[in-house]
Amino acid sequence: MRLPVNYNRLETPYYFYDIELLNETIEAALSACNNNNFRIHYAMKANANSQILETINRYNIGIDCVSGNELKKALECGFNSSDIVFAGVGKSDKEIQLAINSGIHAINVESEEELEVVNTISGEMNRVTDIALRVNPDIDAGTHKHITTGTDHNKFGISIPDIIRINEESDKLKNINIIGLHFHIGSQINGMDTFIKLCSTINSVQNDLLNRGIVFNHLNVGGGLGIDYDNPDKTPIVNFNDYFDVFSSHLKYPHKQIVHFELGRSITGQCGSLITKVLYTKNTSRKRFAIVDAGMTDLIRPALYNAYHKIENLTSSAIKLRYDVVGPICESSDCFGKDAIIPETKRGDILCIRSVGAYGQVMASQYNLREPAMAYYSDMIETINHK
Ligand code: LLP
Repeated sequence: MRLPVNYNRLETPYYFYDIELLNETIEAALSACNNNNFRIHYAMKANANSQILETINRYNIGIDCVSGNELKKALECGFNSSDIVFAGVGKSDKEIQLAINSGIHAINVESEEELEVVNTISGEMNRVTDIALRVNPDIDAGTHKHITTGTDHNKFGISIPDIIRINEESDKLKNINIIGLHFHIGSQINGMDTFIKLCSTINSVQNDLLNRGIVFNHLNVGGGLGIDYDNPDKTPIVNFNDYFDVFSSHLKYPHKQIVHFELGRSITGQCGSLITKVLYTKNTSRKRFAIVDAGMTDLIRPALYNAYHKIENLTSSAIKLRYDVVGPICESSDCFGKDAIIPETKRGDILCIRSVGAYGQVMASQYNLREPAMAYYSDMIETINHK
């Protein structure tokens, strides 16, 4: 694992990003996505740090954004507007105006009412706006319920029968141009079976449309590819070949159709670590606690999704003991690892919380008026390989 050479002297807590690993990950994704019809977008909600975006923008990758500010930031970082798509179940009028003004590739529309609003705003601006319809395919992605997005219980997208009807009636909406469909069924999906199921649902929807004479040049299958939180050293880069092979083998698309992928976690997840110092240790009759200076304000995934992140003690290699590794926030959910087994830990030890490059720093808050954690990047400071 790459770390700053002075990792134990930098003020904690801080995020550290291994930019070499990020580059290798993007290169692996692009090489696996070896199909002229396929196009990768980075879902910038996973990590919107300028340095990360600038690294990603050195490659031929588009952007998936979900807010007006993400859209602005993508443009500021130099992404072409024609490579940007914009999803989100609750876009404000201002955000829609910004998207139309910026001339992005497509607004991914998530309800019939939004479709009418986009049509109206676009008319007021004397424009015809390219949109994609987000389909809710009612597929259970088999992931945590908070990050499942493609079932009838979720707020996202439009049901398949409505999609067919909207397309049949779309002539009456003069200021929008439906260029295709958008799907995204959830995040941290590890089984390829789920993506195979997605392909077969997409095939059936596209086939129903084809029978009505509707063929699109644009298809967006979303993101969701999971990473190996258990073994970040064994699998620093997810198997992109398996993922893209599923779509190459199971998805049927007309030869002019460009298939867009919106990958977030699988691009940035493994390149980030959260480095934190042990402030105190203490025992109760049932538990041994390591109290660290990072909190759920720096990394909320364990508290919000009960998510597992591997925790390592960088200072000690003593005999391993079982700890609850907890932060300083006044919430019992402020816990990074329940019963984490790490070398015996004492005040001043430096711990590393792994695989936090996606949905880590970007979800930070200032609850308890906490200072935001600093971030360091391996291409800007001297690094070492630790262990
Ligand atoms: N496209 C859309 C429309 C999305 O909503 C998302 C993620 C993605 C693409 C990227 O998905 P990915 O490839 O990263 O799985 N905060 C949660 C994850 C929320 C995902 C939100 N949408 C977490 O920490 O697990």
